Amino acid sequence: VVLGTQWGDEGKGKIVDLLSKDVDAVVRFQGGHNAGHTLVAEGNKTVLHLVPSGILNEGAQCLIGNGVVVSLEALKTETEALEALGIDVRSRLGISPACPIIMPYHELLDHAREKAKGKKAIGTTGRGIGPAYEDKVSRRGIRFSDLFNHDLLSEKLEEALDYHNFVLDKYFGGEGLSFDLVLDDALQLGACFTGLMMDVSGELHRLRTQGKRILYEGAQGTLLDIDHGTYPFVTSSNTTIGAVCTGAGVGPDAIDYVLGITKAYTTRVGHGPFPTELFDDVGAGIAERGAEFGATTGRARRCGWLDAVALRRAAHTNGVTGFCVTKLDVLDGLDEIKVGIAYRLGGEVLDIPPQNPEAWDDLEVEYESFPGWQETTRGVTNYDDLPDNAKTYLAAMEALCGAPLHMISTGPDRKEIIFIYSGVSFTVEFFVQGNPVCFF
Ligand code: GDP
Ligand code: IMO
Ligand code: MG
Repeated sequence: VVLGTQWGDEGKGKIVDLLSKDVDAVVRFQGGHNAGHTLVAEGNKTVLHLVPSGILNEGAQCLIGNGVVVSLEALKTETEALEALGIDVRSRLGISPACPIIMPYHELLDHAREKAKGKKAIGTTGRGIGPAYEDKVSRRGIRFSDLFNHDLLSEKLEEALDYHNFVLDKYFGGEGLSFDLVLDDALQLGACFTGLMMDVSGELHRLRTQGKRILYEGAQGTLLDIDHGTYPFVTSSNTTIGAVCTGAGVGPDAIDYVLGITKAYTTRVGHGPFPTELFDDVGAGIAERGAEFGATTGRARRCGWLDAVALRRAAHTNGVTGFCVTKLDVLDGLDEIKVGIAYRLGGEVLDIPPQNPEAWDDLEVEYESFPGWQETTRGVTNYDDLPDNAKTYLAAMEALCGAPLHMISTGPDRKEIIFIYSGVSFTVEFFVQGNPVCFF
């Protein structure tokens, strides 16, 4: 499993892409097209929102599990863009019949709610994610399989639209949608995906029985988890490890390694608490060097120091086997680098964040300071070639964050990576519980 341990955008897409050359299937299990996963291979950049990040590696089947909310329009656009690059998406993509569909009224509701909240807005991606998950839980949702059954779809849509048009019109003072138009659209878009419906849980069982290697690709990050994140400033799915089982339909024995992705600093898009946020030139410099603009909405990402307190919770909540630190190169050239090592709350010292997010507003952060480095780390692929101060910083991260450091990313390209184990670069094969995890 590859998952985010901060507020998303940790670089999951890059890591899934580079690891997927050695796997048989890559599976998305939660979230939707609120995700924006950037892949860079030989200078070519691809941003994926719904299609799993294994798509550039021909040997990997790409599966969308039942936990993913699917926008048909977004999937069509993305599939066509990939096909224009010569990638045969359709022969490798499978979509669970149980995926809830993001309907046009979900997007309208997302926008209407954010507007009505005014200053208390979440800062969502406006993709209809929250309302689509609400419909799933309220048992009012339209699922992928419904698109291929005209009568069932009409019946379900009538009920859903009746309810949502009432809310849009009477509660938000907006306009409802026409049943005929929404139905026609759904049928037409659904027809683009004929033949792609797949029992993903069943397929994963089949692959596992054959000893195939499967990589589960998380979206968003631990602090955006609906239960474990900075509620209510979170997304509407579980982004943490349990979602792999519920969102793909596998048992916990399917998971033998959890790679937690973290940037070498912290970013957040949207509103909500961010204890180590920087409001000075240092933060602005990190944002500029790290090109910190959202891959989905283009919004500027807020930047701050690494938060070891939050990472400790992410490590134990997800059972992180090893961390991958990305964007180390963005810290090049700084005189001093800080890490949040503890929170103070009303005289109490906390080594993991409080579970009630209101408390996050009153926290004070205790920092440890490290000397920066002036050399470039961009593109370094061997741990020994890193500047001494970078090694010191990484060793401190490892000691502070509650799990060992197994990979270091030094640039956006899939080649710009260091595999590391116990402080030693290794170049052959990486075994976890007897299973090879990656080759290079
Ligand atoms: P994701 O949502 O977790 O997949 O991350 P995003 O793709 O939204 O954001 C990560 C950004 O950082 C993308 O623009 C990546 O190309 C870029 N990136 C990933 N790893 C590195 C790295 O090690 N160094 C630099 N400079 N950029 C990186
Ligand atoms: P990836 O997979 C960063 C944030 C939004 C907002 C909150 C709720 O690229 O890491 P939503 O539209 O999900 O209801 O918005 O969650 N958010 C992300 N932030 N990366 C993401 O995905 C995100 N997906 C949602 O900015 O604060
Ligand atoms: Mg992203």
